[in-house]
Amino acid sequence: MAPLDPHSFTDSDHPLTTHISLSLYFDFPSSIIHGSALLSLPTPHSGPIFLDTRSLSITSVIDHDTKSPLPFSLSTDIDHIKGQNLTVTLSNHTKFLIIFTTTPESSALQWLSPPQTFNKSHPFVYTQCQSIHARSVFPCQDTPAARIRYSARLNFPSQLSSVMSARHHGRRSPAAGDVAMACEDSVWCAEGRVVEEFEMEQPIPPYLFAFAVGEIGFREVGPRTRVYAEAAPTVLDSAAREFAGTEEMIKVGERLFGKYDWERFDLLVLPPSFPYGGMENPRMTFLTPTVIKGDETGAQVVAHELAHSWTGNLITNKTNDHFWLNEGFTTYAERRIVEEVQGKDTAALNIGIGWRGLVEEMVRFKDNMEFTKLKTNQEGVDPDDVYSQVPYEKGFQFIWRIEREVGRAAFDEFLKKYIATFKFQSIDTDMFLKFLIENIPGIETKIDLKLWTEGTGIPADAMEPVSNIYSSIVSLSNEFKLGRMPREDEVANWRGQEWELYLENLPKTVEASQVSALDARYSLSESKDYEVKVAFLQLAVSSRCRDYYTEVEKTLKDVGRMKYLRPLYSSLVQGVGNEEDKTFAKRVFLETRDCYHPIAQGVVESILSKHV
Ligand code: BES
Ligand code: ZN
Repeated sequence: MAPLDPHSFTDSDHPLTTHISLSLYFDFPSSIIHGSALLSLPTPHSGPIFLDTRSLSITSVIDHDTKSPLPFSLSTDIDHIKGQNLTVTLSNHTKFLIIFTTTPESSALQWLSPPQTFNKSHPFVYTQCQSIHARSVFPCQDTPAARIRYSARLNFPSQLSSVMSARHHGRRSPAAGDVAMACEDSVWCAEGRVVEEFEMEQPIPPYLFAFAVGEIGFREVGPRTRVYAEAAPTVLDSAAREFAGTEEMIKVGERLFGKYDWERFDLLVLPPSFPYGGMENPRMTFLTPTVIKGDETGAQVVAHELAHSWTGNLITNKTNDHFWLNEGFTTYAERRIVEEVQGKDTAALNIGIGWRGLVEEMVRFKDNMEFTKLKTNQEGVDPDDVYSQVPYEKGFQFIWRIEREVGRAAFDEFLKKYIATFKFQSIDTDMFLKFLIENIPGIETKIDLKLWTEGTGIPADAMEPVSNIYSSIVSLSNEFKLGRMPREDEVANWRGQEWELYLENLPKTVEASQVSALDARYSLSESKDYEVKVAFLQLAVSSRCRDYYTEVEKTLKDVGRMKYLRPLYSSLVQGVGNEEDKTFAKRVFLETRDCYHPIAQGVVESILSKHV
C-alpha cells in the first residue's frame, strides 16, 4: 500500500481505471451537476479501491451487474491539497457505478451567469482540470500515471450546445434510461433539454478531461480545425482570422514530431475569465480571448498547445514532480514550430522573453530553491501555488542544450524516436534520462544530466539567444536605466513581443516620472496587447506610479488570466509601507472575486494572504 503520486490517494497496489462512462446533468440555476460515473478496471478487484474527490457529494455506489449497493466511505478529514478519499469496497468487480453531485465549490468548474457572458442571454460553464481538479467534476484516480478512455452524455437546456476533449457523437432528445442514471427523477429532466454524446477513444490522463457548455458557435478554419467561441459573429470572425494559419502549424508539427494522432485539432475561445493562456485539451484546445489581437502572436499560444499533442498528451508526465517533461519539451517544440512559420527572429525573441522569466523566477524562489529544480518534490505542495516558468524555461534550456551538443539533425531523429517509443505512456524523469543515454551514447560525459535535472538554479551552460534584434532590445532597456528612452525610429517595427522584452528587461522599479514619460510617448498602458499592457502596468505598480491604478483596476476586472493577475496583485501587495496599495488590492479582489475561475480565486487569495 503506497500512494504513487503525491497529489493523489491512488494506491499503487490497486488496479488503474481504464474507462469511465459519464452521465452529466447540468443544473444551471444551482450551479451543480448531477452525475453518474461507471468505472471499469482492467481485471476484477476485491477489497478497497481509493478514488480522489474534491467538493463532491457521493449519493451511492452500485454494482454494475446486480444493481445492488456497494459499501463506500468518504474520508471525513479534507486534505487541503488532495481533497477527500472515496473508498469503495469491491468483491471481484470490474465495473462499478458512482452516483454523485458536484457542488458550487467544485474547483474545476466556472459557472457564468448570463450577464457574465458575451451575449448576456444564456449561462456558460467550462472545466479547467489541470493539474488536480478533475476530481472535483467526477470521482477518479486523478493522477496522470493513470490513462483512461471515456465516454460522456451531457444533458443540458436545448438552447445550448457543448464541446469536449473527445469525439462528438451527436445530439438527441433525452431518453428515459440516460436521464434516470443521472438524476433519478426523469420528469424534470426531459423538458426542454437535449443530450450530446462524446467518446474519447485514446487513453488520456484525467487532467485532460474537459467540456464547455453554453451558447457556442463555430467557424471552419482548416481541414481538421474549427474555432468555437461564444456565438457572436464578431467574436467568431476575429477568432477565425486569428487562427487561419493553424493547419500549416499542424503540418510543421507532423514533419518534426511524427503523425498527428488525435484526428482533429479544434480550438475553443473562452470568456475572458479563463485562467490560462491556453490548455491543451486533446481534440479541443481551450484558449483565452486575450490571444486574439489581430496580429500573428496568437499563433504562439496555439503552437504551444498544438505541440502538447505530442509532448504532454502522447507522452505524459507520470506525476507533477516531472511536470517539466510536459512543459519543457513543449516549449522547445513550440519554438521549433514558431521558427518554421514566423522565422528565427521571432523564435529568438520568445527564447529571450523566456530567459528573462527564468531569471525572475530565481529571485521569486530564492528562499525555496526546491522549485528551481526540474525534477521536484511536491509532497505537501499544491501545484497551483508553485506554478512557474521553471519547468517551461529551464526545461526548454535543457532540451536546447542537448540539441546543441548533438546537432539539430541528430536531435530531430532522437525526438521522433522518443515520441514513437513512449506514446500513450506516462513517464518520469529517470525514464527519459535512461532513454537519452541509451540513444545518445556518451551524452552523460558532455552534459551534467544530474545537475540539470536535480540541481537548483540555472546551470552555467544554459544560454541566452544569439540574435541581433534580441541584443539590441536588451541594450535599449539598459540605456533606459541611464535615462535614455528609445527613439521613434528605433521602435518603428516593434510589435508586442519586442515591447514585452523591452519592458521585462527594465529594472523592477524606476522613477514614477520615467513611467509616465514612457507612456506619454508610446501609450503602452492603452495597448490592445495584454502582454505589453500588463508588463507596463506592473512596472507602474512596482514604481508606485499611481496615475495608472484606474487602468490596473480595469485590467484586473476585465481578464481572469492568471499570468496577468499574479504579477499585478503581487506587485501591489509586496514590500513595506504600501498599506494604500494593499487596501486597493483587497478591495478590487473582493469586488471581482466572483468573476474569476475558482483556481484563480485560490491563487489570488494565496498571494494576498502572504502579504496582507
Ligand atoms: N498546460 C498548460 C496550462 C496549465 C499548466 C494549466 C499547469 C494548469 C496547470 C498550457 O499548455 C500552458 O502552458 N499554457 C501557457 C501558454 C504559453 C506557454 C504559450 C499559458 O497559459 O500561459
Ligand atoms: Zn503547456
